[in-house]
Amino acid sequence: MAKLTEIGWKEFEALPLEEKRPYLERPDGGGMPYHTLFAQQFDRPLLERLATLANRIRFIAKSREGALFLKSFLPHKRAMLYFSQPSSRTFLSHLAACQILGLTTGSVRDTAISSEFKGESKEDSVRTFSSYFDMIIMRTPEKGLAEKMAWELSNSDRPVPIINAGSGKDQHPTQALLDIYTLIRSFEKKGGIDGRTVTFCGDLMRGRTVRSLSYLLTNFSGVKQIFVAPPDLQVPADVVMILAKKGVDFEVTDNLKAAVAASDAVYMTRIQDEWDTAKGESAKIDTSRFKFGAEELALLKPDGIIMHPLPRRDEIATCCDHDPRAMYWRQMRNGMWIRSALIATTFGLEEEILGCGY
Ligand code: CP
Repeated sequence: MAKLTEIGWKEFEALPLEEKRPYLERPDGGGMPYHTLFAQQFDRPLLERLATLANRIRFIAKSREGALFLKSFLPHKRAMLYFSQPSSRTFLSHLAACQILGLTTGSVRDTAISSEFKGESKEDSVRTFSSYFDMIIMRTPEKGLAEKMAWELSNSDRPVPIINAGSGKDQHPTQALLDIYTLIRSFEKKGGIDGRTVTFCGDLMRGRTVRSLSYLLTNFSGVKQIFVAPPDLQVPADVVMILAKKGVDFEVTDNLKAAVAASDAVYMTRIQDEWDTAKGESAKIDTSRFKFGAEELALLKPDGIIMHPLPRRDEIATCCDHDPRAMYWRQMRNGMWIRSALIATTFGLEEEILGCGY
């Protein structure tokens, strides 16, 4: 059984992502995640198991008795939400997930009012959090920081699990989990995800949710991926390389209408101008053809769905919001349930919850 304590940071960092998975699992040998850092940790059986657990938790939570039962699992644990980048959904849904399972929480949302402002390193900050908390859920602008912290903590005398809630332009694994959960639920009575066509549209170059979800979709058979974006914001080479290596059918295009007509799910994303390297860089790109409105809605299949990780700007017109195929509000709520399932799994509770009498 691989352990993070048996490998140096440089050696671990250099491993291909899929080879890192065993180092990030719970030490009981069951193959379940302890640290959650990237999408490559999740295969199909694990995704389906998390979805089943999320369904069970949401069912149990409906009654007062069930909600109290769920809260009885982790009242002795505390979670730290360390979000040094803005967030509404990821912060609040992790917070709500902790509350569902009885964890108490603390947060740092602005490093200008933590001791990082006084020059404390991120390593020391995270080690400090681990002194008071039993899990750290972190969003950072730095690629790879969650991974480095997971290694650091595992090699400290106070190891606690890390959940990556968004790391730079790189990965957003729990967003991808809620996206897959949404696809599973949307198509569960319609033949499942296999063989579907999923279109990604918008800022695919800098959207970390796209990288993570594109990878998770490779766990399903015959899923075609279409990438629709202006040339400057098209899907990055590393994603294309993974798809090509895995033999996934994919298409890169700038024709949104044709892609919508051919798709079962259309995943819209906003322009990520917070990553601009020069002022007004994104504003110079013509994005007018990469928006979903009434014309695109008319082209979408009757069983198709519209997704968005949110927040949105104007890439989905509000006239689409009440269409039954608009899945983005439900997608957001699904995040609370799948994150509850992930946290329960991190603490080794999945068998107990799945096997309970509810
Ligand atoms: N989807 C997402 O990550 O949203 P927030 O930035 O609001 O957390």
